Amino acid sequence: MNKIVLIGFMGCGKTTIGKQLAKKFNFDFIDTDEEIEKKYNTTISDIFRIYGEDDFRKKEVSLLDELLKKDNIIISTGGGIIESIEAIDMLIKEKAVIWLDANVLTIVNRLKLELDNRPKLKNKKDFELSVKRLLDTRYEKYKKSSRIRIDVNDKNIDEVISDILVYIDDNMLL
Ligand code: S3P
Repeated sequence: MNKIVLIGFMGCGKTTIGKQLAKKFNFDFIDTDEEIEKKYNTTISDIFRIYGEDDFRKKEVSLLDELLKKDNIIISTGGGIIESIEAIDMLIKEKAVIWLDANVLTIVNRLKLELDNRPKLKNKKDFELSVKRLLDTRYEKYKKSSRIRIDVNDKNIDEVISDILVYIDDNMLL
């Protein structure tokens, strides 16, 4: 196993944790949101606004397909990647799909100040309720798509990393 995919709701720490893991294993790091923005030379918000969510999901799935062919890589996915059945089908086949599981309170606290490029939650009247509803619809999909669940509530980055490392030995075998 030489590939780790991180999934989970917005604000659960996928990008930060992914970067640290990549450093630790000397792997490449790719964040699907960043990659899409680079590839299409625009922002996620603009893709949602101009072309719609379905178009974004198609771009996301095709990028995931491309990235899963690579080795020695840590992939941090967008929180809604599991909205595409095709993505779930791809993730199920992978060994090291790690779900960073955060509860509503953790998510709300972390996202309060970072809504700018998150069109799914930006401008929602009742922000907490919107997070809860969206998380409810996604929970089973994260579960289904992942082999490992890490509870990230009340943990700092180092604690989450060491929880992840329990599952990964020196040979990167799960
Ligand atoms: C989304 C999550 C975002 C980004 C887009 C949609 C979602 O990624 O892909 O705004 O539907 O949950 P992060 O989880 O990295 O914020």
